[in-house]
Amino acid sequence: MTPAVSVDESVWRDRDAELISPAYSRYSDLVVETADGAHLHTVDGRDVLDFGCGIGVTSLGHRHPDVTAAVHRQVDRLWHTSVTSMHTTMIDAAAALVSVSPAGLDQVFFTNSGAEAVEGAIKLARRATGRSEIIAFSGAFHGRTYGAMTLTASRAKYRVGVGPFLPGVHHTRYPYCFLYCTHAPGERCSIAAGDEIDILFRTTVPPESVAAIFVEPVQGEGGFVVPPATFLPTLRRICDEHGILLVADEVQTGMARSGRMFAIEHSGVLPDIMCLAKALANGLPIAAVVARHAVMRAWHPGEHGTTFGGNAVACAALVAVVETMQRERLAERAARLGAATLERARGWQRTTASLVDVRGLGLLVGLEFARDGRPAADLVARIRASALQRGLLVLSCGTADNVIRIMPPLTIPEDELNQGLDILEAAMAEAAA
Ligand SMILES: Cc1ncc(COP(=O)(O)O)c(C=O)c1O
Repeated sequence: MTPAVSVDESVWRDRDAELISPAYSRYSDLVVETADGAHLHTVDGRDVLDFGCGIGVTSLGHRHPDVTAAVHRQVDRLWHTSVTSMHTTMIDAAAALVSVSPAGLDQVFFTNSGAEAVEGAIKLARRATGRSEIIAFSGAFHGRTYGAMTLTASRAKYRVGVGPFLPGVHHTRYPYCFLYCTHAPGERCSIAAGDEIDILFRTTVPPESVAAIFVEPVQGEGGFVVPPATFLPTLRRICDEHGILLVADEVQTGMARSGRMFAIEHSGVLPDIMCLAKALANGLPIAAVVARHAVMRAWHPGEHGTTFGGNAVACAALVAVVETMQRERLAERAARLGAATLERARGWQRTTASLVDVRGLGLLVGLEFARDGRPAADLVARIRASALQRGLLVLSCGTADNVIRIMPPLTIPEDELNQGLDILEAAMAEAAA
């Protein structure tokens, strides 16, 4: 069928409403036709700065030339074999990933989405330990399939009318100090010190029944929450004491965005399993479970599988992404631009009382808004609408949807980053007035 050609966005919106499931909750009503770098181009000719990157995916900017060239080359060689054979591009992709992964994580299982990677990690952790129970954190987001969704605790609405969920999953609080704690910054945080996990162990979940603790090194959808530095080392200690596997969900934080290749590297902690997706191939669907041989070998042939995982074109893009991130030193760039963004945003707190917290790591920067001690989701919605009108797409997050998430491409030219921040500042001033 020949698609209808129209420059009228409303025609496309009507067709979208007719043809596409209403389950998609869109951050904007832009109708995008093309994109390059940090820019989205709509059917009616608007040029919009993209500070969302398709939710943290297009970290090299849309259609990065090196990734595009790698994809073109691969399209002319091989697309797909699944498990009918091995293929060279998948082996190259695994080697590229292992070469940048934390020490010891040296085997890869490729899937197609972050949720599938989390599903795989749940199964692998249970299989490797022979234990059933899983610990995850309130505010966590791990995906929408049943296992991943059971671990997810960022919005109750995800659970409406679709239970029951996976048995054996227990939630405890993430050290979201701004929300939960009264201690001064830098003082002992009882949540980060593991006190609540100890209570869980004493009261309801014997530690010897626990297969894994799943943790986002920085909570993404939950509000770009950066935990105290003691938290991840504490989890590592608890896991070591009780033979539990530590699973780092780096789906959103991984691949240079946090200022290191993986956010967990900031803590010096080595996870047993890592889940990756999003920016892995700059927009082609691929994800991965990366683990130590000693863990991965718990799976015998056929005990886990996939048709599309390890698709050759996506693998070629992944190799190009890893090479580009290293060549262009994008983790360091994210650290530098992120620090400047944080500093500028902290300055906004002097004039905007409702901007109650500014936090981040690399180019994951969150601005939390509240009024009279209550989350100000309405204000965040107005800021985003005003920014969009001025030509900037910026996303929100947080369990109360009251956090602006600044997540531009890691390759964004500095003048475009500043232009986006100028727009955000103006939008904030207008909306908060
Ligand atoms: C930390 C984290 N884990 C898992 C997922 C799920 O990934 P996907 O949407 O590719 O299934 C996401 C998606 O936002 C995520 O942020």
